Amino acid sequence: MIFLNHDEAAELTAEYGSPIYVYSEEILRDRCRALLEAFQGRVAPSFSIKANSNLTLLKIIREEGFGADAMSPGEIFILEKAGFQSDEIFYIGNNVSTDELRYCIDRGILVSVDSISQLEKLGRINRGGRVAIRFNTGIGAGHCDKVVTAGHKTKFGVDPAFCREVKEALSRYDMKLVGVNQHIGSLFLSPEPYLRAAEGLLDLVAENFPGLDFVDFGGGFGVPYRPGEEPLELAALAEGLFPILDAFTARYDNKYVHFKCEPGRYICAECGLLVGKVRAVKENYGELYIGTDIGFNVLMRPVLYDSYHEVALLGKDGAGDGRLATVVGNICESGDILAKDRALAGAKEGDLLVVGNAGAYGYSMASNYNSRLRPAELLKTRQGDFRLIRASDTLESLTQNF
Ligand code: LLP
Repeated sequence: MIFLNHDEAAELTAEYGSPIYVYSEEILRDRCRALLEAFQGRVAPSFSIKANSNLTLLKIIREEGFGADAMSPGEIFILEKAGFQSDEIFYIGNNVSTDELRYCIDRGILVSVDSISQLEKLGRINRGGRVAIRFNTGIGAGHCDKVVTAGHKTKFGVDPAFCREVKEALSRYDMKLVGVNQHIGSLFLSPEPYLRAAEGLLDLVAENFPGLDFVDFGGGFGVPYRPGEEPLELAALAEGLFPILDAFTARYDNKYVHFKCEPGRYICAECGLLVGKVRAVKENYGELYIGTDIGFNVLMRPVLYDSYHEVALLGKDGAGDGRLATVVGNICESGDILAKDRALAGAKEGDLLVVGNAGAYGYSMASNYNSRLRPAELLKTRQGDFRLIRASDTLESLTQNF
């Protein structure tokens, strides 16, 4: 979804430098509404801030009626600045310190623990308090092994085989289990694994944990990255889920139990573009390289996961003679490859380049590697104007902690 034309991109990069992230308010709100509509109020969404922690986007997402999940004090701090109240934030920690747990307790934020040792750590400082537990019911899904967060080969969640020990720890610290959650992994495009995992979690709850306030099925809803890929049909997912929820509620003791989910990518991936420039074009031993200023410090996903992002030249088709090129960044590693085998042989120095679906896990995973500056972020408002919503790093900001 390229909502930016060549002249707009040229103006913005002239003013804010290159590269830049640009988000569309319209697409962001549209995705929030699509999700709410699909779930018809039966599953309440918490936005997973790890996908994008820009303050302005968070305010919009909250305005649309979302809660949020967090997994560090930093994420809580930003969410509070965006206006989220403590009962709208769900802390899903993993291997956290006592200080972090205390940070949540002091703010009245509900914590989910994902091991018995973390449950005991929380119990020691919050005897008699409320708690949630993240289970791993054995079904995982995701675009690559690194982001599959349930199943038999992951550090996440409590193995249901330890239910008895969980109950013992809860009673040892007199804690009230108010909810359970899971997250099977990130980016699936068919509803099936989510539905099977939801059933698994609800069976576990029905058999072991009466009286819960909520069950949270996690996020992971994918968006298509490759041309021709079919999008996840959220409506089909919701329609598959509702009878599962009905059957559960019919046999569960608390008829007021409610259901939650934690989308990150679905909400913000498609509203974000990354704009950069071609800085050099060269041939090395028969391979054509298009050298850009989009290094993996700016967008890490292709290098870390071999993820595919669409890359296009703005204002020209750029296919050239049809030869395929490798699009690379400006970081001093050979693995700094943004895209392979792309029909962009017509690219010239100075051309503007746009990377699609960059709104999720783009800026939020950016770094200062090679002491490069993280870019500015801009919002294209519904009225069509562009607003700076985060300034780029500066040389000074690189040294401020020394
Ligand atoms: N809830 C929990 C507990 C999570 O750990 C995550 C993501 C989410 C929700 C949101 O998942 P989503 O709806 O965005 O798929 N950096 C990777 C993705 C890592 C996701 C980690 N957890 C990537 O760029 O593909």
